[in-house]
Amino acid sequence: MNFQLRLPLSILGIFLLALGGCNSGSKNQSAETTNSQATDSTATASQEVSLPAKADFQNTISGKKTDLYVLKNKNNVQAAITNYGGRLVSLLVPDKAGKMTDVIVGFDKLQPFTEGADTYFGALIGRYGNRIAKGKFTLDGKTYTLATNNGPNHLHGGKVGFSRVIWDANQTNDSTLVLTYVSKDGEEGYPGTLTSKVTYTLSSANELKIAYEATTDKKTVLNLTNHSYFNLNGAGSGTILDHQLQINADRYTPVDSTLIPTGKIEALAGTPLNFKKATIIGDRINDTHQQIKFGKGYDHNYVLATQRSATLKPAAAVLGDKSGIYMEVSTQEPGIQFYSGNFMTGSNQIKGGKKDEYRSAFCLETQHFPDSPNQRNFPSTVLAPGQTYKTSSVYKFSVKQ
Ligand code: GAL
Repeated sequence: MNFQLRLPLSILGIFLLALGGCNSGSKNQSAETTNSQATDSTATASQEVSLPAKADFQNTISGKKTDLYVLKNKNNVQAAITNYGGRLVSLLVPDKAGKMTDVIVGFDKLQPFTEGADTYFGALIGRYGNRIAKGKFTLDGKTYTLATNNGPNHLHGGKVGFSRVIWDANQTNDSTLVLTYVSKDGEEGYPGTLTSKVTYTLSSANELKIAYEATTDKKTVLNLTNHSYFNLNGAGSGTILDHQLQINADRYTPVDSTLIPTGKIEALAGTPLNFKKATIIGDRINDTHQQIKFGKGYDHNYVLATQRSATLKPAAAVLGDKSGIYMEVSTQEPGIQFYSGNFMTGSNQIKGGKKDEYRSAFCLETQHFPDSPNQRNFPSTVLAPGQTYKTSSVYKFSVKQ
């Protein structure tokens, strides 16, 4: 990718300029330089965007320490993750002009993450991503009851879920953060003591990989995902309606008015939900199609495969219309939930003093299908003792001119 070449060249140019223009070793100390990125401080781009302050994430909640961990690579790409809910807080990637852009919409300090209704900004979602109808499912003849925290249904793991627990964090090097969490038997109504390990890795090819692993001591159901809200033009830069999206799916799982799948798997061809060919998100978002009405826009599970794949497969790609930032999502999961920020209301102040305006972000949540524990013809989400749940997804960033 040419931008990977351009960045080192621009750094070299800046270095030569500095050599010619300055007469001593005194460094122009930018207030926004967060770590040891000395070259970064002179580039105009880096002065416009910075990572949230680590101190704003340091606290002790229920006896556990919270913090902000920073992954970085040789291209100056940086990912900031807090162990509060395992949330991706910021991701700085270069745009088509080489300007670093934070593509993650959300808060820039811990406190708002902990208060009020959960927005799920950047969060790890568990035990079950998306909805379980009426908060009930039956396993081996026993019915389990979960919280109904979304109308009549259970959403994203319940009242606390994995998005509001403190994960144990271990940053093993500049590019890897390992998070672990042990969920007690019966937590949020789910059976089994579940031990989950999620590893965030930032590669030198500007890929953020999220690898999930889990084991249980009793048969249970599980569907882990990440709920990052993206705006590829930069957080707080307006709606995502002019972004271009492509999803590698021919079929989807239509929903009822409470967003529970009907159980059918239907063709996308000929519907305004079809993104097989790259299409502007806003083009058909107000269509009168019943599914778009139920979703209040796009809020649907796209079928990528009939089961979890052994390897990563391309799932979706999005282009930021202004930035030229191009994000490719690949996953081992059989589904991906495309959510177009229809429940965003502008009521939360996000990073940069901006608001979380209506449809100013989108989510692409790699996952098994919603309500699978109650749907016989969906791929199974059951995890049994002795088995290891293992899956991964990658978000890769480049630019298109
Ligand atoms: C999405 C879900 C939406 C909404 C959102 C959080 O994953 O599909 O319906 O609940 O999370 O506001």
